[in-house]
Amino acid sequence: MVKHENFKTCDQSGFCKRNRAFADTAAATSSWTSPYALDPTTIKFKDGKLSGTILKTLSGGDEKVRLPLTVTFLESGLARVTLDEEKRQKGDIVLRGDSKARKERYNDAHTWAIVGGLDVSQGAALNEKVDQGYTRVFYGEAGKHEAVIQHQPFGIEFKRDGVTQVKFNERGLLNMEHWRPKVEKPVEEKKEGEEEKKEEETKQEEPKEDESTWWDESFGGNTDSKPRGPEAVALDISFPGYEHVFGIPEHATRLSLKTTRGGDGAYSEPYRLYNADVFEYEMDSPMTLYGAIPFMQAHRKGSTVGVFWLNAAETWIDVIKTKNSANPLSLGTKGHTDTQTHWISESGLLDVFVFLGPTPQDLTRQYGELTGYTAMPQSFAIAYHQCRWNYVTDEDVKDVDRKFDKFKIPYDVIWLDIEYTHEKKYFTWDPLTFVNPDKMHKHLKKRDRKLVAIIDPHIKNTDGYHVIDELKKKGLAVKNKDGNDYEGWCWPGSSMWVDCFNPAAITWWKGLFKYDSFKGSASNTFIWNDMNEPSVFNGPETTMPKDNLHHGGWEHRDVHNINGLTFHNATYQAMLERKKGEIRRPFVLTRAFYSGSQRVGAMWTGDNLAEWSHLEASIPMVLNQGISGFPFSGADVGGFFGNPSKELLTRWYQAGIYYPFFRGHAHIDTRRREPYIPGAPYTEIITQALRLRYQLLPAWYTAFHEAATTGAPIIRPNFYIHPEDEKGFAVDDQLYIGSYGLLAKPVTKEGADSVSVYLADDQPYYDYFDYTLYQGAGKEHTVPAPLEKIPLLMRGGHIIPRRDRPRRSSALMKFDPFTLVVVLDKDGSAQGTLYVDDGETFDYQQGAYIHRRFSFDGKRQIMTSTNLNDHRSTAKLDNYLKSMAKVRIEKVIIIGAPKEWKTKKQVIVSEEGAKESKRKIPVGLEWFEASSGKASWAVVRDPKVGVGRGWKIDFS
Ligand code: NOJ
Repeated sequence: MVKHENFKTCDQSGFCKRNRAFADTAAATSSWTSPYALDPTTIKFKDGKLSGTILKTLSGGDEKVRLPLTVTFLESGLARVTLDEEKRQKGDIVLRGDSKARKERYNDAHTWAIVGGLDVSQGAALNEKVDQGYTRVFYGEAGKHEAVIQHQPFGIEFKRDGVTQVKFNERGLLNMEHWRPKVEKPVEEKKEGEEEKKEEETKQEEPKEDESTWWDESFGGNTDSKPRGPEAVALDISFPGYEHVFGIPEHATRLSLKTTRGGDGAYSEPYRLYNADVFEYEMDSPMTLYGAIPFMQAHRKGSTVGVFWLNAAETWIDVIKTKNSANPLSLGTKGHTDTQTHWISESGLLDVFVFLGPTPQDLTRQYGELTGYTAMPQSFAIAYHQCRWNYVTDEDVKDVDRKFDKFKIPYDVIWLDIEYTHEKKYFTWDPLTFVNPDKMHKHLKKRDRKLVAIIDPHIKNTDGYHVIDELKKKGLAVKNKDGNDYEGWCWPGSSMWVDCFNPAAITWWKGLFKYDSFKGSASNTFIWNDMNEPSVFNGPETTMPKDNLHHGGWEHRDVHNINGLTFHNATYQAMLERKKGEIRRPFVLTRAFYSGSQRVGAMWTGDNLAEWSHLEASIPMVLNQGISGFPFSGADVGGFFGNPSKELLTRWYQAGIYYPFFRGHAHIDTRRREPYIPGAPYTEIITQALRLRYQLLPAWYTAFHEAATTGAPIIRPNFYIHPEDEKGFAVDDQLYIGSYGLLAKPVTKEGADSVSVYLADDQPYYDYFDYTLYQGAGKEHTVPAPLEKIPLLMRGGHIIPRRDRPRRSSALMKFDPFTLVVVLDKDGSAQGTLYVDDGETFDYQQGAYIHRRFSFDGKRQIMTSTNLNDHRSTAKLDNYLKSMAKVRIEKVIIIGAPKEWKTKKQVIVSEEGAKESKRKIPVGLEWFEASSGKASWAVVRDPKVGVGRGWKIDFS
């Protein structure tokens, strides 16, 4: 059970409490007006950017705080709003307690999170229409977007095609806690007998605002010194007409976010984003977890919009939904629901991007343009990973490896947790248990398998360990509030933390991974970064004190949620430079993350439990990662804590094959549970599941390529594929793989022998294995799911690439032939793509890849393969194509094949560039009649066409 008392509630987090109270006061005050006004005389508009000054009127009315505002209109159709505080910006404040911290609000989150998409719109234009009290700007494609900026009180409405989609400060909750000096109140001595009277007096003297957490704050025995005083930034953002909001991972919640302030089944706490090592985290909770992506999207029929709140400090988000019933007098108008959100961060700038869609695809693409797309992984990284805490010796590793082979179970990567190190000193091997790491690596290399070793950010503070010596000597550790090296407690005991905000720390870190430095590592070693929230066992909320200091003088408070990304990034950079000339795509798994982490690796959902509820929750959690720009994600298969029953373990593998990052992992106190352990029939069933993952690796790899080039999720929720289907918006227990129409519904209930699958549209859906037909839009369909059966459907209209030969690792499939499964739609047509590259290097960036579009034209009864690689011939491309020249399509299966093919015995195949004599080759066609609810199907065996070539198969 999670220890709630270790983590703050909103009430225990001063700034959250203050801002929620502010919201309550606003709601309870009928005459409430936001005290923020944009001074019209300061407004300037130039080159797509509006600037001005907002004045915050303090109670009493005379004093005003100056807040510089910018609203930038971007070429991509986004708008970015920033608000700073002039006094802090100018450094015109006094820090308390000799603090060495910076004086400004943190303004550097973009350096870590943003990599593009900032081109300013040249077409954005002020609307000259005179409208007292408002400034209007048209922007976006063909000026379809409009920002209506109200001066007093300040607020912005963002419109698309004249309809308001997003509103800032509608409820008047904008709140920039401005700097003020602490006024020390004289402490009067109490005289006996005066007790009660005194209390009365103090009550009356108390200021309206609750100052109790302005100057310092204690929790769990730790006191935060808060040298800059209160500095929160908060804003309400409304989505009128939107009932569903998604995103803001990481929480163990459903995809469609519940309300947090009253209403059916509401949470009582806001969603919290404050990366933390939450031991035995609970289900269905807005509690914070290990990572944070402050990107939220709102969805309704015909429209998806969103906001990205670029702030790295502790953040809380309230979600409120208001149902507006239909007005009985206005016939025909339906009631609708509005969603209002309230964003509250402890410090930093207000910096918000507004997305106006209108499609879910626009949102993921534009968010990816800003924060970067998923790095294209090596092909092994999307195969199966076998981990546990711990494989205890190098012999143990080899033994596990041999057993996978003995049982003919495919796997690619074996992992080492912290016990491989010598006394928890990273970059060392325990001399008694890992006697010969070189030999171990060589053993794995035989089947082209890899090893992932854990390297955490806490460095053991002990004598005679070169890493800590260098860290201290070079001054690269995170500092405490007094500017000395911060010392805390983690796995190794007393430790210090490398400060990867510091470029010099990254340079140093890179050196540690060179083969001659990290002795015993090899070209098939890859890295796992854990505990990078950072986890500090004796720190407040199991992390660092907020008044710790990072490079540049920023307080930990300001950068906390980015911390994990900086460490992950440093390791990624290091893996690029292990050896001169050896440039391969790194693989680094992280636990903590922020917007942008997708550029440097994969994540997993941390320490889950071997319970059915955790298996169930993993699906919406991984789906949410996908639509939030970090799709290379997965959960520990089998559950980290505890021992799963054999049934649960089996079902978890059957679900885990759909995690983009697919790894079995277990706690040190659990029993062994490698897939060969449970025995009959479980081992065989798990093996079949693993084979299914391996068979579909071509589809997965293509889906990763799509994510890496368009920002699309790898597994996709119903609303993303069917954005018009209102009934399915909240469906989050089934998923589509890439653009393939492969619809999976993992079994997450004990004892189930069927599942019900929701079909959003009226295309035919076929069972993956036996082609049973399911059809009927907007309905649940019962699909059998006895233990040995994985519920997986294929939607009509898609062509799915596979590799059907079972192998021991994905590397051994590199030159295997492909099978194409053509699933015909209602009109008898289908389409699909395939992306293949060397799976290892960056040559694909110079065009060395195969990218094909396969189409089956139902009218002409012709199937074609056309080229999608628009690179011109280069040496790299030509060499790659040469290496793949013999790789062919060995089978084409057509599901829903028309009856007329019954008598057809052959098709005509032609390949581009073939010799005259080899053009138009007849190849046999076999047709199989539909039986009891199943589709008829046909197969073309060995059309002898190359996967990298253009070709045509004529079925007419
Ligand atoms: C915590 C991680 O979440 C878990 O996966 C790992 O096994 C332990 N740390 C030990 O390194």
